[in-house]
Amino acid sequence: MAAAAPVPDIPDTIRRLGGGGPRRIAENAGLVITHGEGAHLVDTGGRRYLDFATAMGVAAIGHGHPRWTAALSEQAGRLAACVLHTPEHAEYLEGLAEVLPEGLERTALYSGGTEAVEVAVRLAQSVTGRRHLVSFTTGFHGKSTGLRFTGHRHAEERAWLGVDWVHDVPYPICTGHDAVSYLDCDGDGTAALRGLDEYAAGLDGGVAAVIVEPILGTAGNLPPERRFLAALRRLCTERGWLLVLDESITGFGRLGTVFAAGWYEVTPDILILGKAIGGGYPLSGVAAGSRLWDSSLFAEPSATSSSYGANPVACAAGLAVLDIVTGEGFLENVRSVGARLAGGLRRLEAESPYVAATRGVGMMLGFDLVDPDTGELAGSDLSRRLFLSCLERGLLVAQVPRVRLNAPLTLRPDEADAALEALAAALAPGAVRG
Ligand SMILES: Cc1ncc(COP(=O)(O)O)c(C=O)c1O
Repeated sequence: MAAAAPVPDIPDTIRRLGGGGPRRIAENAGLVITHGEGAHLVDTGGRRYLDFATAMGVAAIGHGHPRWTAALSEQAGRLAACVLHTPEHAEYLEGLAEVLPEGLERTALYSGGTEAVEVAVRLAQSVTGRRHLVSFTTGFHGKSTGLRFTGHRHAEERAWLGVDWVHDVPYPICTGHDAVSYLDCDGDGTAALRGLDEYAAGLDGGVAAVIVEPILGTAGNLPPERRFLAALRRLCTERGWLLVLDESITGFGRLGTVFAAGWYEVTPDILILGKAIGGGYPLSGVAAGSRLWDSSLFAEPSATSSSYGANPVACAAGLAVLDIVTGEGFLENVRSVGARLAGGLRRLEAESPYVAATRGVGMMLGFDLVDPDTGELAGSDLSRRLFLSCLERGLLVAQVPRVRLNAPLTLRPDEADAALEALAAALAPGAVRG
């Protein structure tokens, strides 16, 4: 009998040959995923997991959506790359223009969120002739040379490199409301806006743009005081700062509206599109009005181009996502299943000693894992054990201890109930010992 072929150790290969450290969540989970089916991921052993990480919001239409899969396969076989104009590009821009906030109907396409934010910052600096970028503490906009310093990240490295044009000021997180009662939040972030205004007054050369996530995603799905974004809009207009709304996570339905701009009733000067926009195919965009595009260095031919920007497969993927998100019942599902999850999280917080500060909007939900002995945010060991406790019950959450729940927006009510049951069992009193 022939000897069985050795089974490759996939995590080991990735650790040995991958550049940079492997993803923490992948290392913590220790699973190898072979495929996805709707709201589930399936591992090498055939076990299924409800995917509440969705690759950090990318897989918002779930896995293997038939319309998306067909659109990609068809386009890949016909034309996958082209430096000349294509019908897919035109059709996609027309589709986007229909759903984008009024006045932001022109979009430059790229392949990653960071790249889009880089373009937005350069656009703002070019239009205003000013250089400073103000972000909000613990916000996240990318890991490139300049952007990695937004949100007060890598502060020592920023000082070492002498980067003096990227700043951060406190974000007014809503603390008094959970996802059920968020509509009652009446705060407008007055103190944060005063802080921003005072800080900006000291910036030599002036503020080009203020960049903000409608809800802090990477920091743990933390919504701001509900009327903050509208008040920030007013301040930016008064001061002549451009407002960049980074909808990398909130865009394409996550809050139950196509964009958070609609949910919060604000119109930014520049809107960042990413993640869910391509449904898993790399795609991102920068939307702005004609005045900005035409009065900046981006008015020059080729100034906005990149190797993968507007490639036909990306456009086909984007069109399929648009079609799905604006299709009948999609956004209603986000709102109703989101409300079901929100109610379940409220019950979970009442019952589990490990759960505090449940929060969110639509299907951008979260909570804190806490140590019952101290009431403080759970440390890394307890967090990891609670994460694994969820995984053992068939639920993948995006992050610990500030847990992010970014379910597929196609989640069915029975799948939402299964996720809530898994959370209740995984985080029951005494679920994790020692
Ligand atoms: C709000 C936000 N902006 C920008 C980015 C960067 O996007 P990418 O990882 O596609 O470069 C991220 C990534 O997590 C994000 O959450």
